[in-house]
Amino acid sequence: MAVKLKSDDELRVMREAGRVVAQTLEQLRAMIRPGLNILEIERFVRDEFRRRGAKETFLNYSPAPRYPPYPSNICVSVNEQLVHGVPRDRILQEGDIVSLDLGATYKGYVGDAAITVPVGRVSDEARHLIEVTENALWAGIRAGRSGGHLNDICGAIEDAITPSGYSIVRGYGGHGVGREMHEEPHVQNHRMRFRGTPLRPGLVLALEPMVNVGRPETVECEDGWTVRTKDGSLCCHFEHTIAIREGDEPEVLTLP
Ligand code: MF3
Ligand code: CO
Repeated sequence: MAVKLKSDDELRVMREAGRVVAQTLEQLRAMIRPGLNILEIERFVRDEFRRRGAKETFLNYSPAPRYPPYPSNICVSVNEQLVHGVPRDRILQEGDIVSLDLGATYKGYVGDAAITVPVGRVSDEARHLIEVTENALWAGIRAGRSGGHLNDICGAIEDAITPSGYSIVRGYGGHGVGREMHEEPHVQNHRMRFRGTPLRPGLVLALEPMVNVGRPETVECEDGWTVRTKDGSLCCHFEHTIAIREGDEPEVLTLP
């Protein structure tokens, strides 16, 4: 499977798809508070997609036969849960941090983004972790210049995380985005041993750094989806969908 560069017409639609995701995430950010039941997040997303004319991307998604179809429209991952948290009946508590990972399909194209949000007052460490991870995302974005290569982005993300002493998660990462949520190339959050895909205008990527306070290892939970840190340490995830463009930093398609 080859990398699919997007035309200007396709980018126009992807901008709209990205906006649906970004605006819905901003609405969710404003809803997050101690006492909120995670099931209300899922319900809000379903209503919002209907209102905006967006189609579900995550619901029933299955990357491989060993995975059960994903049962929701959003991934909600709390504290030691890193990614792919399946929404369930759970009340958010003061001091939690919660990752909201949302994909939507609009006019046939996918937008994909994630934010990690503090619930009320959180520890200094949680705040620092959020800052490091979001900074790493933006370091990766700034490194995405036409004429360079994918490894410029991977290396920039790695270098933004390393000084913190936190761990970079391996085995999960970003990806190309387009008509499919997951297109070529895979985007590691650490340097590769080769330059990787050339960065050219029209290349659309989801960058998604994942950082653990403790050890880098993760485990999958019994639900077949939720991924958490093996040592139970706090972890964090941010994601944007970006488009490489000529002579400039990338356009971020999932900004509200
Ligand atoms: N943004 C994530 C990804 O790119 C979430 C998708 S997992 C799903 O892999 F199963 F919920 F779709
Ligand atoms: Co993604």
